[in-house]
Amino acid sequence: MCNTCGCSSAKEITENPGMTRRAAVGAVSAGAGALALTACGSSMDSDATAASIDPGAPAEPTDMAAVADVPVGGVIKATAQGTSVMITQPTEGTFHAFSSVCTHQGCQVNAQKEKTINCPCHASVFSTEDGAPQGGPAETALPEFPLEIKGDRIWVG
Ligand code: FES
Repeated sequence: MCNTCGCSSAKEITENPGMTRRAAVGAVSAGAGALALTACGSSMDSDATAASIDPGAPAEPTDMAAVADVPVGGVIKATAQGTSVMITQPTEGTFHAFSSVCTHQGCQVNAQKEKTINCPCHASVFSTEDGAPQGGPAETALPEFPLEIKGDRIWVG
């Protein structure tokens, strides 16, 4: 596991085989973190892991949120029964549910100020309309899950 950001990459250690773990941590603390972050954020890692990342789909249709909770033009992160999803409403009355698991290296994404979908690990940004990456190292869209409006509730899965 990456000691810098918590991602699954072991590259920062394997790229410096002569460096001890303690020395590596010290080097990161001393400002060499850019090297480790670059290793975690390489497109090679993205290609290697995106297909193997579990998107965390609800096991069955699940009541995730109230329709009124999702701002028009925005996004919320909804959690129910141990599963989190990103629910968006890009235009009034149009809803989408996307995985909350970043396709870069599997970090949990967040709803930045209820406007954008952002990953805190390496700063990928995803579209609220189709989950497509719009910035950062992620190259693959967030998977979309089936969504159904039942009354004033949003069911996902
Ligand atoms: S895990 Fe790297 S940007 Fe999300």
